[in-house]
Formats: sequence, C-alpha cells, structure tokens
Amino acid sequence: MTEKNTSHISTQLIHHGYTPPPDFQAPQPGIFKASTVFFPNVAAMRQRDWKDKSAYTYGTHGTPTSFTLEERLCALEGGKHCVLTPSGLTALAVASFAILKTGDHILLPDNSYGPNKVLAAGELTSFGISHTFYNAMDPQDLASKIKPNTQLVWLEAPGSISMEFPDLIGLIKVCQSHRVLTALDNTWGAGIAFKPFDLLGDGSLSVDLTAHALTKYPSGGGDVLMGSVMTCNDGLATKLKMTMSRLGICVGPNDIESILRSLPTISLRYAAQDLSARQLAQWWKGQKACVQVLHPAVEGSPGHEHWQALCASDGSAGHAAGLFSVMLHPSLAQVQVDAFCDSLSLFRLGYSWGGPISLVVPYNIASLRSNWPSHLQQGYLVRFSTGFEDPQDLIHDLAKAVEQCLNF
Ligand SMILES: Cc1ncc(COP(=O)(O)O)c(C=O)c1O
Repeated sequence: MTEKNTSHISTQLIHHGYTPPPDFQAPQPGIFKASTVFFPNVAAMRQRDWKDKSAYTYGTHGTPTSFTLEERLCALEGGKHCVLTPSGLTALAVASFAILKTGDHILLPDNSYGPNKVLAAGELTSFGISHTFYNAMDPQDLASKIKPNTQLVWLEAPGSISMEFPDLIGLIKVCQSHRVLTALDNTWGAGIAFKPFDLLGDGSLSVDLTAHALTKYPSGGGDVLMGSVMTCNDGLATKLKMTMSRLGICVGPNDIESILRSLPTISLRYAAQDLSARQLAQWWKGQKACVQVLHPAVEGSPGHEHWQALCASDGSAGHAAGLFSVMLHPSLAQVQVDAFCDSLSLFRLGYSWGGPISLVVPYNIASLRSNWPSHLQQGYLVRFSTGFEDPQDLIHDLAKAVEQCLNF
C-alpha cells in the first residue's frame, strides 16, 4: 500500500513526484523557462562555473533554449562562441563595452548604422572613450586614422542606407597590420552572403567579432527584437560573457523560440527577398526620376566590384539582402518624394528589414554623414526593403506612385 501524502495540497502541487518520460523528440527544441535553476547538492552549486556550457547556474547565464540558439547561430556565421542580446543595438553596445576602457579610441565607418554612432558620441564619450569616423570606401583613410590607442574598428558591409559596399578584405588587412581588433555589423550578410570568420575561404582572414541584429533575417517576422555577438577567440568570448553578466543582459525564452522556429528557413527567405530586390532595383534603373540605384549586386552601384569579390567570387549570381536605395532626381521637391512614399500601398512606412511586408523610408543623407560622399549623386534617397509580396505587384505599386508623384 502506498503511503498517504499528508502534506498540504499547495506543497503537493509544488513538489509533485511525477516526471515525464525523458528524450521527448519533436521538430522544434523544447522551450525552457527559468530564473532559478536547481543544483543537486551544495558541492555542485559551489563547483559550477557559469561561463562554460557544461551545466546551468541561473537564468541570466543560459538555459538549454538559449544555448541551442547560440550554437545554431555559430553554425550560421561560422563562429565558435555566441552571446544573445535583447536587440541588435545591444549587441553593438555589448561588443564595444566588452573591449573598451577609458582612454581607448575607436573608429567607425561614416556610413555605419546611425545608433552605433550615437552610442559612441554618448555613453562611450562620457566613459572617456574617443571615436573618429572613417571613409569606408577608402582603406587608406582608415589606415591614416588609426592611433596608438585605437583598440577597435567597426565595420559594416554594405553601409547603412546608402548601401555602398566597402573593400572589406582591404579594411580588415589594414586593421590586422596595425594589430587592432575588428568588429563587423553582420546584419546585412546574415551569415549567408559571405563568411565573416573565413572571408577568403582558406582560413586565412577573419574578423574578430560580429554583431548581428537577429531582428532582421533570423527572425523574418518583423515581430521579435534580438541580437547576437560572436567570436572565434576564447579570450574575447570570456570578455563578452563577463560584460553580459555584469550588466545582467539576457533574452527571454519565448523570443528565442521565435528565432529557433524561423532559422531553418533563413536561406530560402534571404534568397527570395534578394531576388525580389534585384528585380525592383533593375526596374528603377529605367525610371527618369531615379538618378542612382544603390544596390551592391547591381552593376554601377558604388562598391559593386567589392561585393562581387566577396559575395559572388565563384561567378554565380551571389547573395545580397532584400534591401536597396534609390537616389531621386534633385529637381524633385521633398514634398513630392514624401508624397511618393505616402502613396505606396504595398510598401508600408516603417523601419527595419527582413520581415514579410515590404517597407519604405525616405532619408536625408546630408543629415546622416559628415560630408556628402563623392560616390553618391545629389538627390533624395529612398530605401526599400522587400518582403514576400509578388515582385510584379510591388513594381505595379511603385509605377503607380511614380506616375502620381514623381513626374517632372
Ligand atoms: C545594420 C543594422 N545593425 C543593427 C541594427 C539594430 O537592430 P535592432 O533594431 O534589433 O536594435 C539595425 C536596425 O535597423 C541595423 O539596420
């Protein structure tokens, strides 16, 4: 006869004796939620090192769910260690905070993601870390701006909004010859367009760190914010984990689940949005209102040859994200450009990219750069992110809005 459980029902429900059978197998990995993690005994509690992935310590230091996504992202980008952050911008911040200290200097491309520049001008400056912007299209300019206290060079390929593709290989070689660490914002490449930890395919050239806004292609839904920082260097990985731990940065399991669910289709989604963006970019080439198409895979676009060398070196069509900009004729008025954006119906006005719905944003380049870049025509820039709508429907939407608003 089994002994009667005399404890209170609350206690019985909390300390219930049932454990489900182990080894549950299904297409998606299980989702584990925890702040508290149990230890079998005090000795195990004292011995556990939260920095390695052999066991669990506390929710902020990882769960089977977060470890699983980190490992899959390492496979995607070719890194060895990965940490997850609550947004792409936090990934950029964690990478900088992990490496830099008072008195250090960093270099950022003038065409980098705006909030990374704002972070440098804000927190980094107030912590006594100085910064300089360099021309991403000129490795000599980068070389000339490296100082004895330069610790980190940020890289981005292509540049945000104006989409010019730098000589990434040349820029990294400059940094390595000066023994300066490199961190690449790899959101556009997403681990698909090129391999940041093996740029030449022979193991001879790598960035030190990547930061990735998982918000874009790994999510693909326009509904999750997350980032990752990755490295192959064990020492840098420890620095990243220490910074994450000291700041208490971590990501919730439900958001991780969304990324784990989307990740298997990333290369299919990336290819579909790439194809669509190239069709739209080609269409713009024939439009009188457009003075320049800014898409790294389109011939004549600034840095196209560097994109080709890195992302299509085998002579194939190569890979590019579903993102491009056009420079509209300077004789158009700003109100016409705004009216054009407003009159689109399939393209929605909104920031970000990689989601299912096509997006459009007008930008004022003069307010984003220290100088008007010589490779950019004068005019009004409009950026498009292609979703999963049929490209012909998107072209029809554009044609209607051009006809209505951009006639001159
Ligand atoms: C190139 C790039 N890096 C980083 C980010 C930041 O990502 P998040 O929006 O997740 O903070 C963005 C967002 O637009 C981006 O375009």
